[in-house]
Amino acid sequence: MKLYNETSAQLNLEPQRMRAVQGDLMDSNGPAFQDEDFRDFDLAVMSMALHHVPDPLAMLRALVRLLKPGGRVVIIDWTLDTAQDDGTDVVTPQYSTQYPVAYHGFNQQQMAKLFKEAGCVASDYQVHPEPSHCPPMSNPWRHLFFAKGEIA
Ligand SMILES: C[S@@+](CC[C@H](N)C(=O)[O-])C[C@H]1O[C@@H](n2cnc3c(N)ncnc32)[C@H](O)[C@@H]1O
Repeated sequence: MKLYNETSAQLNLEPQRMRAVQGDLMDSNGPAFQDEDFRDFDLAVMSMALHHVPDPLAMLRALVRLLKPGGRVVIIDWTLDTAQDDGTDVVTPQYSTQYPVAYHGFNQQQMAKLFKEAGCVASDYQVHPEPSHCPPMSNPWRHLFFAKGEIA
């Protein structure tokens, strides 16, 4: 975070344009919801974090709250393995602070439902064609998706 903010200063960018802040997006009293600069975003991007969150709908609602009208939220995360592609929610039973993975991934159906319930009026879901290496998983080669939700 220090390096990010130092880089921003070296690039002569105003803190409003590029600034790292540490906080819990699930904490409605946290910095993301108190700071005047943390609202009216055109775009909120969350990369490889949604599968760590036990309540992904609450997280998407929190991200949507940061947007201005017409704003978009982009989620990058793992697709589900073929065996889990039936659209049922798959939560890892061993979720804990030592193993903070709540979901194996999300398919298109699940993301469309999450975006809709979070207040989005349109959504999209694209799978990256190249697999990514993810050594700790039983299948070390997995696909990422890029999903987009848009509010009115
Ligand atoms: C696997 S890392 C991904 C890091 C980076 N975004 C990337 O794509 O390489 C998961 C990230 O999710 C963040 N995260 C999980 N729950 C969060 C929450 N409630 N609020 C904010 N960040 C959260 C963690 O702090 C961690 O940095």
